[in-house]
This record gives sequence, structure tokens and C-alpha cells, in this order.
Amino acid sequence: MRAITRNVAKAQPLFDDRVELKQADLRLPDTLTTALDGIDTVLCCSGTTAFPSDKWQVDLPSQPLEQFLTWGRIFVDEDYRQRHAKNSPAIADGQGVKNLIAAAKNSSVQRFVMVSSLGIERKDNFPFNLLNAYGVLDAKQAAEQALRDTGLHYTIVRPGRLIDGPFTSYDLNTLIKASTDGKQGVVLGCGDQLLGQTSRRDVAAACVECLQNPATENTTFEIINQGERPVTIVWSKLFAQLNGG
Ligand SMILES: NC(=O)c1ccc[n+]([C@@H]2O[C@H](COP(=O)([O-])OP(=O)(O)OC[C@H]3O[C@@H](n4cnc5c(N)ncnc54)[C@H](OP(=O)(O)O)[C@@H]3O)[C@@H](O)[C@H]2O)c1
Repeated sequence: MRAITRNVAKAQPLFDDRVELKQADLRLPDTLTTALDGIDTVLCCSGTTAFPSDKWQVDLPSQPLEQFLTWGRIFVDEDYRQRHAKNSPAIADGQGVKNLIAAAKNSSVQRFVMVSSLGIERKDNFPFNLLNAYGVLDAKQAAEQALRDTGLHYTIVRPGRLIDGPFTSYDLNTLIKASTDGKQGVVLGCGDQLLGQTSRRDVAAACVECLQNPATENTTFEIINQGERPVTIVWSKLFAQLNGG
């Protein structure tokens, strides 16, 4: 098993020595070709923040006042944003994931599972119109479509706002270390109708379980946590309810 990361030193403590770590960047197609060498299955869970943050890798001037003004323009001026943010949603969640899909198509990869998001089909409705203010859902939608068009066996998993650790993203749930306490059940749906939060652990489990379950092939589904958690999550039963997508 291989984890592809931009920063091997940062990833190492997360994985110890359980996986091979390979350095690559979604923006650099050549690095992806090398990283996928000999790989048959990709689980893609990359992305940047939905709203401007240092994860967008903005070129900042050295003076604090100029930095402040630069962030102001990043927030309000789309053209400026496109020129100065080097890892915006359009680049990381859109073109970057498309680069990974293209590299997978030209390699030994047979199966591709992509973590996308609730709201792709409701991006004009509240609250998803707010989430999409800087185009993250547009970018994910374009990447989803690129994956459907490749001919690879795919599954697209669309979680709600992520809850439970590891708290790696920049958002309120990370700030308050929000947790389901392992007490909530898993609900899957098709057609982008669910609303709720989703445990990172259940998203990860769903991605892995998909690989054993033909019902998930060439399917798009949403996943949230809701209701009381049964003693065991029977993924095959949950997947059997999916009607394609
Ligand atoms: N957070 C939510 O509430 C939420 C809701 C719905 C869907 N999602 C989706 O769920 C997935 C995981 O989200 P998360 O919040 O756990 O995100 P996260 O912790 O920020 O992880 C995203 C990963 O993507 C990597 N990445 C970003 N740009 C990259 C690039 N150019 N090349 C290679 N790797 C790059 C990041 O690497 P670095 O560590 O080097 O920055 C990071 O490891 C994402 O696809 C996200 O869009 C998240």
C-alpha cells in the first residue's frame, strides 16, 4: 500500500511504517505517473479549503499591510484570485484531481475511488451555495465527471461536513474537535438528497469496503452519520440499497 503525499515528513507520523510513502503533487503530472507505478487501485481524498486560506498557497508580499490587502483582493477579486492562488479549489480539487485520473487511466490502475462532497447537485441552494462561493463544488463536479468519462471502474463517495479525527482540515469541526463518539449510524443515499455530517472514519471505511463490493462499481453515493449506531455496520447491506448514480 502506498500513500501519495506532497510532504513525506508530514505524512510519516500519521502512517508510521505501515505504508510506503511517495512524494507527488497533483499539479505536476509527471510526479503522478511515477507515484502510480505498479498500483491497481486509487483512493483519492485530496482537496484544498473551500474558502481562502494559506492552503491556497497565495504569493504574499513581505509587508504586513500589503499582505492584508492581498488577502482582501483574494476574497473579492476572482481574476486576481486565479492569478495568485497556486492551490485554489479549481487547481487542487479540479485540475489536480483530473491530472490524477488521467495518470491512473494511463497506468496499471483498474479501480478509482474518489472522495467528493454532498451538495454537488444542489450547489445553487443554501447552504451549498455558500460552500461553493469560491468554486469548490464546481471543481469537484468537474473532477467527478472526468472520472465517469475515463472508463475506469469508479466509485464516488460524497460525505457531508467531516467530523471525527484526524483533524487535518481548517474548519470549525477541527477547532472544536467535533466527534460522533462512535455512536451514530451510517446512512447512504443517491441523488444528493442527504444533509448531515460524516465521520472521517466512516468515509475511510466506506472507501475501503467499496473495493470488495461490485454494487458500488460505477456508482456515486452520499454518506452521512445519523441515528443510533448498530453494533456492526454491515456495509454490504448499505451498498445493496444503492440504485446506481
Ligand atoms: N472537511 C470537510 O468538511 C469536507 C466535507 C466534504 C468533503 N470533503 C472532502 O474530503 C476529502 C478530505 O478532506 P479533509 O478536510 O480531511 O482535507 P485535508 O485534511 O485538508 O486533506 C486534504 C489533503 O489533500 C492534500 N493536497 C492538497 N493539495 C494538494 C496537491 N496540490 N497535491 C497533492 N496533495 C494535495 C493535502 O496535502 P497537504 O497536507 O500537503 O496540504 C491534504 O493531505 C477532500 O477531498 C475534501 O474535499 C471534506
